[in-house]
Amino acid sequence: MHAKTIGSLLLGAAIALPPLSGCHAPADNQNERSPAPTRDVGPAGWRAQLTDGSNGRDWPAFGRTYGEQHYSPLNQIDTATVKRLGLVWSADLPAGNPATGPIEVAGIIYTATGYSVVRAFDAPTGKLLWTYDPHAPEVSGHKLRQGWGSRGIAYWNGKVYVGTQDGRLIAVDAATGQPVWSVETFGKDEQRFISGPPRAFDGMVIIGHGGADEAPIRGYATAYDAETGKQMWRFYTVPGDPAKGFENKAMAMAAKTWSGPWWTYGGGGTVWNAITYDRDTDTILLGTGNGAPWNRKIRSQGKGDNLFLCSIVAVDAKTGAYKWHYQINPGESWDFNAAMDMELADLTIDGRPRKVLITAPKNGFLYVIDRTDGKLISAKPFVTTTWAKSIDLKTGRPNEAPNIHYENGSVTFRPTPVGAHSWPPMAFSPQSGLVYIPAIDLQVTYDDRGITPANFKWIGGMALDYGVRSDVRVPAGEKTQGYLVAWNPVTQQQAWRLPMASHFNGGLMATGGGLVFQGHPDSSFTAYDAKTGKILWSADAGAAVVAPPITYSVGGKQYVTVIAGMGTSAGLFGPMLAKFGIDYRTQARRVLTFALDGKAKLPPRTRYTPKAVDDADFKLDPAAAAAGESIFNMRCAVCHGGGAVAGGTAPDLRTSGAILSPDVFTSIVHDGALVANGMPRFEELSAEDREHLRQYLRTRAADLKQASVKSHE
Ligand code: HEC
Repeated sequence: MHAKTIGSLLLGAAIALPPLSGCHAPADNQNERSPAPTRDVGPAGWRAQLTDGSNGRDWPAFGRTYGEQHYSPLNQIDTATVKRLGLVWSADLPAGNPATGPIEVAGIIYTATGYSVVRAFDAPTGKLLWTYDPHAPEVSGHKLRQGWGSRGIAYWNGKVYVGTQDGRLIAVDAATGQPVWSVETFGKDEQRFISGPPRAFDGMVIIGHGGADEAPIRGYATAYDAETGKQMWRFYTVPGDPAKGFENKAMAMAAKTWSGPWWTYGGGGTVWNAITYDRDTDTILLGTGNGAPWNRKIRSQGKGDNLFLCSIVAVDAKTGAYKWHYQINPGESWDFNAAMDMELADLTIDGRPRKVLITAPKNGFLYVIDRTDGKLISAKPFVTTTWAKSIDLKTGRPNEAPNIHYENGSVTFRPTPVGAHSWPPMAFSPQSGLVYIPAIDLQVTYDDRGITPANFKWIGGMALDYGVRSDVRVPAGEKTQGYLVAWNPVTQQQAWRLPMASHFNGGLMATGGGLVFQGHPDSSFTAYDAKTGKILWSADAGAAVVAPPITYSVGGKQYVTVIAGMGTSAGLFGPMLAKFGIDYRTQARRVLTFALDGKAKLPPRTRYTPKAVDDADFKLDPAAAAAGESIFNMRCAVCHGGGAVAGGTAPDLRTSGAILSPDVFTSIVHDGALVANGMPRFEELSAEDREHLRQYLRTRAADLKQASVKSHE
């Protein structure tokens, strides 16, 4: 069933439909002749553009080149000219996740927004060339419950590649938008899903997946032939059932670091985001995630390093054979990940030229690692880290605080499972020599009292059942929860630091014009002086910006493109983002393209103030509401926001007419009427569960009404 049908179902209910799509290009662009859809520069051209240190004409991969510095040497837009930067065009996108990194090849921008809906735009004019929709929500089943949508797209030899929520890796013809091949990267009944960008290199495409937060998942990454989709190799990141034999020596080695029947828990270690290709050594670097479940006492009897969780694992690009690993968090117990982007660079350290990998994982340290052998060169904290004071450079292991694996049942520390750095990428500028990190500074309390291997169970789907309770908060007395940090990876010292208005900020891009670009949830899209952090330019993007920007050159003109709109994990932090007035239904989602002397204008931003649904018959029933709250927190809050205060990734249910009618509520929540739009189906919720949920949501609506009456008094 599609949105239209449900629109009529909900007739009379206070539901705003998403705005219609359109393109706000300036009048003179609209008459421009449509460009030839294929201006491909050919294999030599795009291969050259993918090579680290290329001239920056294109942005053909998530981090621009194989080494993923999120840096372009282009300098037409620089510290002096940036004040002339203006919007050239914008194109509206339909509802769905806009927090995704676009790419550009030979004057065409490719985006994968929502659930991997691919679009091609002519870069100079914004003309939409084609759309390809893999209809992922309809075939995702329970996988949709963990869903936020696609974070990026890849390119190789006239094809673009996307992963889907249901686990397909799809090659799409870059000229026509027609699918060329599609493979299933995991089984239909497995609780895995793809949100990260695929990476294409040297005739192959590689993809991992997420899922280890809520299901017994054994992580892996798979490489496919870019032309045919044929599987080349698969590398598992944690060992499986020893009775079945290990796939390779690396798994046999890893198994020695696990205890008990770990394989029955999956183990985790998914490669959900970071993958980098080192062309110098023909090596793929995989950044692995947390344990499944998070609590090591459950999955490994509280013992062992649990290789290769929270590690960088180097494998041979051609064969997938293990080369080396560096484990960032031995015995991972906190949803810490090594899955944040890795920037490859050539640095001179202590007078020696070094081939390094730079990464700023969730745990708050900036690591510089020798990428030829995985040896740690240096590591220093870029936010307050109370879980460990330092990393031992000899052993590569952290000097952990006492009781940090909550051996005594409970522990409070910084940073948190949200990460001191999350998936919005950092950038490294070889020009300034600095790394720019969208840093997050929060505190967490873990508590597993009463949870044992005997009573632990996966609830399935979106259960938030980690084997430990986690409570993320703003540390007492702290005003700032987020920073833009500029850091020197050679000296391991801060160059500058800017406080941000919230913890959740956009991915970064650095340029040869001496600039750093970043968007923010308050709708500002800003260019900073890379050396000093001074704000040199800022535009109102008309919507929150959390996606990473890109830059490229067409016909001698430098453009900057970014996608505006709130997406990804914002729902979890709805209350922390409420001050920005972002709403799923009314926010804009747009592709924005800027260049010097751009003169296009955006319609004024609609700031959202929630208005409780009119509910004259409502009667308080605290017991029913409390029962509903616990279901909501387990199954709904991840998208609809803690306390039903949404952050922009799903509708604000306190304002929804759908909570007034048991029939409408049932058709959506139980029968799956809005699945095609990304609202999962919860067929296991009984009529009583649904009434409890409705009672909770109506209570939250009444709370909202009360609060707005108060604020007007
Ligand atoms: C993976 C994210 C996700 C989860 C989890 C989720 N929802 Fe939704 N929900 C959405 C999205 C996206 C929409 C908007 C769909 C559309 O555009 O029609 C939505 C729409 C709705 C609507 C219709 C609101 C309106 O005014 O149109 C209701 C009611 C709803 N959800 C209830 C729930 C309940 C109850 C739960 C938990 C049992 C839940 N949702 C879990 C994403 C989610």
